[in-house]
Amino acid sequence: MAISKTMSDALNTQFNKELNSAYLYESMAADFYAGNLPGFAVWMTTQAGEERVHAEKIHHYLTENGERVYYAAIPEPQAEWKSPLAAIQGALAHEKFITKSIHDLVRTARKEDDIATETFLGWYVTEQIEEESTAQSLIDKLEMVGDNRFGLYQLDKEVSTRQQDA
Ligand SMILES: [Fe+2]
Ligand SMILES: [Fe+2]
Repeated sequence: MAISKTMSDALNTQFNKELNSAYLYESMAADFYAGNLPGFAVWMTTQAGEERVHAEKIHHYLTENGERVYYAAIPEPQAEWKSPLAAIQGALAHEKFITKSIHDLVRTARKEDDIATETFLGWYVTEQIEEESTAQSLIDKLEMVGDNRFGLYQLDKEVSTRQQDA
């Protein structure tokens, strides 16, 4: 069964949002490198890599269904954050926005009676739970560390070992 124009357009919008997410996280990584936190920079670069995988999966799905993808303009991302905590809080807020966007896509798939796309989107629904939980646990650690410079140094070393899992 072919994908409707409404569904295809909505998936294209999500494709661009995922690339947008990657761009935002690369910008956060740049700010972490500038702030002498290379571990956090690696963590963010890894997250950006996951976002590109999220985009690629949609690309593949559209192509598989005889549809094509369209690249939209990517707005200039924020460049500086006042603290590592502010950056990760920004990442969590962004992921909550993405979760809402994925849920809206599922609603669209239901409205279009598109069972295949609804099933495809199930992976994203689950992934968003992981995304929010990963950001939240890093926020918890940063709050625990507070203003302790040595704690931040230790945490930077810990997060530098993050590996891409998506
Ligand atoms: Fe994503
Ligand atoms: Fe993830």
